[in-house]
Amino acid sequence: MATHNLLLLPGDGIGPEIMTEVKKVISWFNARGGDTFETDEGLAGGSAYDAHGQAISDGDMAKAMASDAVIFGAVGGPKWDSVPYDVRPEAGLLRLRKDMELFANLRPAICYPALADASSLKKEIIEGLDILILRELTGGVYFGEPKEITDLGNGQKRGVDTQVYDTYEIERIAKAAFELARTRDGKVTSMEKRNVMKSGVLWNEVVTATHKNGYEDIELEHMLADAGGMQLVRWPKQFDVIVTDNLFGDMLSDVAAMLTGSLGMLPSASLGAQDAKTGKRKALYEPVHGSAPDIAGTGAANPIAMIASFGMALRYSFELAAEADMLDKAIANALDKGLRTKDIALDGDKTITTVEMGNAIIAELDALSA
Ligand code: NAD
Ligand code: IPM
Ligand code: MN
Repeated sequence: MATHNLLLLPGDGIGPEIMTEVKKVISWFNARGGDTFETDEGLAGGSAYDAHGQAISDGDMAKAMASDAVIFGAVGGPKWDSVPYDVRPEAGLLRLRKDMELFANLRPAICYPALADASSLKKEIIEGLDILILRELTGGVYFGEPKEITDLGNGQKRGVDTQVYDTYEIERIAKAAFELARTRDGKVTSMEKRNVMKSGVLWNEVVTATHKNGYEDIELEHMLADAGGMQLVRWPKQFDVIVTDNLFGDMLSDVAAMLTGSLGMLPSASLGAQDAKTGKRKALYEPVHGSAPDIAGTGAANPIAMIASFGMALRYSFELAAEADMLDKAIANALDKGLRTKDIALDGDKTITTVEMGNAIIAELDALSA
């Protein structure tokens, strides 16, 4: 029986509301026996800026590095629109990703049977959907230098972001994609824009070379990222694992979210490399969605993406696959009973609040373990 240390970073907007619900799930597993979780809590994003002028403090950063996993809500909001760029709320999340070297971001898009009607796409297109977008998370245009706005002195300014990928960065995310595909349907689609970007040419070359080096049992397909976006909406079930860069992965995973009915349904895991000695890896689990300032404080936030993100922690950090399956089943059962937060409700459906959805999932966990 192991004890795992979690650092909870609720963040801003709906972050604290959905974190309250995941805390109930953590307590439920603690009360059940088996592995237990000790939690500590810190500040990230605008709430950290308000407290000490940084989007995450060095102290909380050190706690994150020492934790077995970080459970992260969401950051950002209009309140901080005019704070300096370096300390804007999103900078806290980017620092966590970079300093913890969380290069592999797993964003599954699964359509729960009960929600097949909630998507903006036709039911037959998304029914039974189970794909995984693997987004490179510590490189590309998010972090490349130079990144600046310069004054050209003629009344014009120039904004510069730099897309950079080195071989090792592409190779490690490609390996992760092939290994994940081996546990699924055995197919990887790599997306870049080699037709216009040098980093896309290198991405394509390195993914191809990595495939030849021990992963030929996996089917590999290359697709231009713009066409990939189109195919995701046209017939998403053609995909198994999609591997792509930081920016394309950000955009394609929001598109994939809508396939499943709502951004409020999509969890994610951000993983570092496995330590050769301990076998452990640094990890952060967070919903794909943001702080949803438009609904913060109204009780309308769907806590499922956050709760399912803890489910990914059970699976990927703690080797508790049976517990993760149980939590997924509890979510599916609550949905099967017709329980809906506003974002996944159809016209005329009765809706429930964030807290009620959290309680319903706990009740389903109770029922499953009875
Ligand atoms: P958002 O994801 O916060 O919201 C987009 C839309 O989806 C909104 O209408 C919102 O109400 C809805 N939505 C999102 N999560 C929901 C949930 N759990 N339940 C019900 N509805 C939900 O994106 P945005 O509005 O573009 O960004 C708002 C802020 O969040 C920005 O400051 C942005 O930078 C930040 N952001 C943070 C993260 C993160 O912390 N990981 C991710 C994305 C955006
Ligand atoms: C996400 C978000 C972040 C990103 C922001 C908040 C920095 O959109 O996690 O998808 O762009 O990566
Ligand atoms: Mn995003």
